[in-house]
Amino acid sequence: MKMQKQDAVCIIPLPWKGDRYRHKLHSICSRICSFPPSLAKYFILNYSNEGDIVFDPFSGKGTLPLEALLNNRIGWGNDVSPEAYILTKAKVDKIIPKIFFQYLKKLKSQMGFIKSTEDVDPKVKVFYHDSTLKQIIELKELLKNKKSKYAIFTKAIILGILHGSSSYSLSLRCSHSYSMSPGYVKKYAEKNGLEKPIRDVIDCIKNKSLNCLKEGVPSFCGKAFNYDSRNIKIDSDSVDLIVTSPPYFAIQTYAYDNWLRHWFLGYDYKDVNRLLVNTNSEEKYGQFMLDSMKEMYRVLKEGSKCFIVIGDVKKKTSKGDVVINTAEFLIKYVKEAGFTFERIIIDKIPQGRKVFNSALCSAGISTERILVLEK
Ligand SMILES: C[S@@+](CC[C@H](N)C(=O)[O-])C[C@H]1O[C@@H](n2cnc3c(N)ncnc32)[C@H](O)[C@@H]1O
Repeated sequence: MKMQKQDAVCIIPLPWKGDRYRHKLHSICSRICSFPPSLAKYFILNYSNEGDIVFDPFSGKGTLPLEALLNNRIGWGNDVSPEAYILTKAKVDKIIPKIFFQYLKKLKSQMGFIKSTEDVDPKVKVFYHDSTLKQIIELKELLKNKKSKYAIFTKAIILGILHGSSSYSLSLRCSHSYSMSPGYVKKYAEKNGLEKPIRDVIDCIKNKSLNCLKEGVPSFCGKAFNYDSRNIKIDSDSVDLIVTSPPYFAIQTYAYDNWLRHWFLGYDYKDVNRLLVNTNSEEKYGQFMLDSMKEMYRVLKEGSKCFIVIGDVKKKTSKGDVVINTAEFLIKYVKEAGFTFERIIIDKIPQGRKVFNSALCSAGISTERILVLEK
């Protein structure tokens, strides 16, 4: 069912809602604020053709580019955050599983050189048994600055098991989707007697990868970029479709929510935070979105569509909380960026949707809207 051009605001039963299937590669790493693969697939199938370039300038864990590749399109993703870039790149660079498992074997043969974890940040130690931590540090060292697709895939799998509660999670039992606060985890673990598991880290990577690769890899290759959305170094008029979800106004928790993953990749989350828009000012957020949408407009081909998934947010003011309908707020910027505004589709966020962490829930996001634009 393709949506018809109709009213400026269109509340419809969303066609992708019932589709719960997701290809196993989507499960490399859970990350807050991801949209479901079924949403990406719906727009890809209805608004692009096989072989087209489909792009997400805020790609997060790479849901859109992977779904594009799975549907015989060329998936491109861009994200300024280093861990999101790794996750996106792991999904668009086609790996050969046999070579990947040989690569893991070689990594294992190089391990065993760390004797002590004395110098490791105590905040990190909260999460790991000493024996597991030694292996994590060795892999951190061995993979540092390594850019081959097998190194990237290994890093992505490690990001996905660095914390969580599955049989291959490396940490004590905690959230899989976001890196929890060490202070909170320490107290909770002491109170509830949580044990730090002793893991063979390479075995855990292998088992997690076997699961993610169960359904194979796409036959198409895509591209991953690591630019600020306001200055993406890709050609003008090169993209056939954009489906994206930018950072929400007044909610800039991506850096801290991934602090442990950043640590593994060799970054301080505070430095990553400086790369992201960090503002509670509507004017500054509007300017950021205007500049980002100008880039989206530039890279899109004439007549192509752009779908922007964006949530309402609650903003604290001296007069109490005010709900901001971000999609409507953005309309004037959309037009200034050059786009023709078509309509807004409403998507109610179901209660308990896993990808929304407590920060977003307490920020009062209950409705997501999809801005439909055309170049
Ligand atoms: C709502 S999330 C996107 C989630 C993605 N659709 C998915 O399914 O995983 C927004 C993303 O924007 C990224 N981001 C924030 N500021 C950015 C910027 N200036 N340039 C590029 N990416 C940015 C964040 O790192 C975050 O991954």
